[in-house]
Amino acid sequence: MIMIPVLVALCWLSLACWAEAQDVFDVLSYVDPLIGASNGGNVFPGASLPYGMAKAVADTNSTSNQGGFTLDGAVVTGFSIMHDSGTGGNPSLGNFALFPYTNCPGGDVDQCAFPKKTRARFGAFSNSSVSAKPGTFGITLNSGIRSEMTTTHHAALFKFEFPTTGADGEVAQPLILQDLTDLADSRQDNGTVSVDATTGRITGSARFLPSFGGGNFVLYFCTDFSGAEILDNGIFVNSRASASVKNLTISRSINGYPLPGGAFVRFKSGTEPILVRTATSFISASQACAHAENEIPKFDFTAVSTAATEAWRAKMSPIQVSTTGVNQSTLINFYSGIYRTMINPQNYTGENPLWSSSEPYFDSFYCIWDLFRSQLPFLTIIDPAAVAEMIRSLIDTYRHVGWLPDCRMSLNKGYTQGGSNADNVLADAFLKGIKEGIDWNDGYAAVVKDAEVEPYDWCCEGRGGLDSWKALGYIPVQDFDYKGFGTMTRSISRTLEYSYNDFCISQIAGGLGKTADQEKYIESSGNWQNLYKADQRSYWWDGTDTGFVGFFEPRFLNKTWGYQNPLNCSNLDTYSSCSLQNTGRETFESSIWEYGFFVPHDQATLQTLYGGPASFVRRLDYLHDRNITYIGNEPSFLTVFQYHYAGRPALSAKRSHFYIPSFFSPTPAGLPGNDDSGAMGSFVAFAMIGLFPNPGQDVYLITPPFFAHVNITHPQTLKTASVKTLNFDPSYTNIYIQNATLDGKPYTKSWLDHSFFTEGKQLVLTVGRNESATWGRHVDDLPPSLGKYAGFNGTFSAKRAMGARGARSYKGNFAAAAAVGDQMWGS
Ligand SMILES: *[C@@H]1O[C@H](CO)[C@@H](O)[C@H](O)[C@H]1NC(C)=O
Ligand SMILES: *[C@@H]1O[C@H](CO)[C@@H](O)[C@H](O)[C@H]1NC(C)=O
Ligand SMILES: *[C@@H]1O[C@H](CO)[C@@H](O)[C@H](O)[C@H]1NC(C)=O
Ligand SMILES: *[C@@H]1O[C@H](CO)[C@@H](O)[C@H](O)[C@H]1NC(C)=O
Ligand SMILES: *[C@@H]1O[C@H](CO)[C@@H](O)[C@H](O)[C@H]1NC(C)=O
Ligand SMILES: *[C@@H]1O[C@H](CO)[C@@H](O)[C@H](O)[C@H]1NC(C)=O
Ligand SMILES: *[C@@H]1O[C@H](CO)[C@@H](O)[C@H](O)[C@H]1NC(C)=O
Ligand SMILES: *[C@@H]1O[C@H](CO)[C@@H](O)[C@H](O)[C@H]1NC(C)=O
Ligand SMILES: *[C@@H]1O[C@H](CO)[C@@H](O)[C@H](O)[C@H]1NC(C)=O
Ligand SMILES: *[C@@H]1O[C@H](CO)[C@@H](O)[C@H](O)[C@H]1NC(C)=O
Ligand SMILES: *[C@@H]1O[C@H](CO)[C@@H](O)[C@H](O)[C@H]1NC(C)=O
Ligand SMILES: *[C@@H]1O[C@H](CO)[C@@H](O)[C@H](O)[C@H]1NC(C)=O
Repeated sequence: MIMIPVLVALCWLSLACWAEAQDVFDVLSYVDPLIGASNGGNVFPGASLPYGMAKAVADTNSTSNQGGFTLDGAVVTGFSIMHDSGTGGNPSLGNFALFPYTNCPGGDVDQCAFPKKTRARFGAFSNSSVSAKPGTFGITLNSGIRSEMTTTHHAALFKFEFPTTGADGEVAQPLILQDLTDLADSRQDNGTVSVDATTGRITGSARFLPSFGGGNFVLYFCTDFSGAEILDNGIFVNSRASASVKNLTISRSINGYPLPGGAFVRFKSGTEPILVRTATSFISASQACAHAENEIPKFDFTAVSTAATEAWRAKMSPIQVSTTGVNQSTLINFYSGIYRTMINPQNYTGENPLWSSSEPYFDSFYCIWDLFRSQLPFLTIIDPAAVAEMIRSLIDTYRHVGWLPDCRMSLNKGYTQGGSNADNVLADAFLKGIKEGIDWNDGYAAVVKDAEVEPYDWCCEGRGGLDSWKALGYIPVQDFDYKGFGTMTRSISRTLEYSYNDFCISQIAGGLGKTADQEKYIESSGNWQNLYKADQRSYWWDGTDTGFVGFFEPRFLNKTWGYQNPLNCSNLDTYSSCSLQNTGRETFESSIWEYGFFVPHDQATLQTLYGGPASFVRRLDYLHDRNITYIGNEPSFLTVFQYHYAGRPALSAKRSHFYIPSFFSPTPAGLPGNDDSGAMGSFVAFAMIGLFPNPGQDVYLITPPFFAHVNITHPQTLKTASVKTLNFDPSYTNIYIQNATLDGKPYTKSWLDHSFFTEGKQLVLTVGRNESATWGRHVDDLPPSLGKYAGFNGTFSAKRAMGARGARSYKGNFAAAAAVGDQMWGS
């Protein structure tokens, strides 16, 4: 009798071992950088290091070429090494493009096409020739020229392979040009380029415009060649070139686009591949040359590409999932989403000409309105050292520019979309214990300045309407503001975001022991309630009543109400302009319906206003089922998981499977709109590991992962957190948590905190086919909220409100916050 269980156990064990052995795989085999390369994903699908400044890819002339390359039928116009990823706005960067020809007909350089517009006819390619992998990118143009590229931090190495003869049958004498354009044709006056007659080294610089902000920037470059003897070289202007001129300074010209200009180098033979090493710098051409020489001393393509691949493997390795039962496409969706979180922001440390400082400098926070929700919280888990550098950079930007940015690209201020959301980013990192090298006193001063000092021009930093905010407790529609200036729209979404920003500030204040400030900002974090119009109904355009009552509405200075249809600015409203146009509405890029859930810190009070948890759930269902929300824009992210706050975590799981994979699939067209840096990627990654953050709080909402087992090793503590799903069902029918254990003890809360990752805790979920009647449903199981929950089984436990006011522990602070909140609203 005793033998049987042992045999069974052995058999089970060995099967288990076998199953786990199957899980040893190369994460990079599941990364497809081409996801989002069409259909407006605008991702950068080329070669880059994690956070690298050099990003090499083939640029197309698509009207959606913000990220450089697209797979939408557009043709290649050049190969450049500066890019952003996933952005809206104008196309970003793409400066100093290279373009190769096998020869110029008749040996006459003037027979080669130089301007971007005319050379496009030599840029056709077949989709199947494109190969994109972390750290490398390759493409064959229909001209027969194969290009492979890889990068170091500031430099790129291209390998061009030529057919033996040109299209006209003449022997190959390759010409490679480099021009002074960028993707947006933003080059200003006095671009310069020189080519060295002997070595063919091309250097130059030009002034360009940032893609979603004011100001301008100067970028320098340095390019060297290897692999074939030089025939001749020179410069070109518009369609004509000459080997007898080596230097050029060129005007923008007046006809609405920068006059084409650049340099070229011609080679005696195309039998061997020609290697082109090019680097950029915001400091000087000689710094660009130094980057190139130091980072790619030997033009060794294999060495550079291997190092790039290894850098990605190291960054991606903290997350290992079990492949048992899940298909390739699920794995590719997941790991590619993670990959895209580390393309931007970009590490420009040592490359900032604007101020001198020993702090790190990161750029391409494009934009924090998008990034704060899940991308930066994701990096806080898998790359906390990088997040610490980003936070230091944000604080240093505050020190030298005067304000935290809401958006920043190419050394310039970008446009603010709503609140001062860097406050949320700082709070999120602070609460999760990110501290390496961070001066949190300066960090605190930075967020307080957002709350207290109105900039003269709040287009691009801080907040507008602070006098009204302080006097009235909301941003009025048609505010009277004679102190600071900006686009006078978005009064509702700005009020909601400023409220949450203040909550985030209160959390840092609490952690720093600044009790009076903590209470002050907790109080103003309740300002959202001042725009709640309890009797407001919502009707469809044809007059049908949605059946819901109580919405945020605009309010005038004299405290009377204005009106905006709660459904306007939703994805279904194809008429209104709701972005940063000066004709925009009172909500930014989304409806009152959706902003109606944006009270991330006080879901309890919001629920009560909405008629209790059941009514809150009906409203969330209506938002999703009627397509009022659109998962392709970031305000929707948290709404997928907000059922947790109504004690219905099962419904969050159901919603996340509703959106993934149907709205996020591992194909070029698979993203619902712009990736927005890696915002969409991080949404997928978090949803699939089943721990979604409420950013700005130390809270992760638990849903079953899309994998039987997820291991996440903290890169600093080296502890491995794991989520194991018992009864795991790869067809995703059993997606409802029945019960859970955390480190072996029963765990009924529907959320956990960041110590899960730093301390390497073990979460075991048992899932079933139906929603559990108990798990995550009792009032004590709900995620933290400032106000008191009502309408649940059980009473609001003293445990939640424990901790003296001003307690030093971060978690204690949220509880203390609850106590203050109770007092404030007498709830
Ligand atoms: C390449 O793929 C894109 C997107 O799938 C498509 O629009 C385009 O037509 C394809 N081009 C060719 C030549 O097949
Ligand atoms: C891209 O270039 C091709 C080839 O010259 C041209 O047919 C096409 O119209 C261009 N597309 C755009 C958007 O300029
Ligand atoms: C271009 O250079 C000329 C001559 O040095 C100078 O007068 C002019 O101001 C420059 N233009 C810009 C935009 O810097
Ligand atoms: C051309 O440019 C190079 C590099 O900037 C410089 O050294 C050289 O003097 C210039 N030559 C002329 C003729 O201006
Ligand atoms: C997770 O870690 C455990 C413990 O080290 C190991 O047994 C298991 O194979 C890992 N699973 C995956 C999917 O990596
Ligand atoms: C950023 O760049 C600096 C300078 O090259 C480097 O020391 C640092 O490690 C980089 N940080 C990250 C997160 O890549
Ligand atoms: C309040 O201001 C609005 C907008 O200017 C105006 O239409 C309304 O008549 C005013 N109401 C009162 C009571 O003053
Ligand atoms: C609200 O949206 C509907 C549907 O797009 C549109 O017809 C109506 O004009 C919009 N109202 C306003 C004030 O923009
Ligand atoms: C919502 O949109 C999806 C496609 O995105 C469509 O299939 C569905 O019918 C829409 N539902 C409603 C109620 O309009
Ligand atoms: C992979 O599995 C998911 C979830 O079961 C399913 O939706 C998807 O269609 C599958 N994809 C393929 C290519 O089989
Ligand atoms: C969890 O639920 C499963 C199925 O309902 C049950 O078999 C198991 O004993 C439960 N485990 C715990 C720790 O409650
Ligand atoms: C309260 O508990 C009862 C009995 O378990 C259950 O039927 C009911 O749905 C619960 N109510 C809520 C709001 O969870």
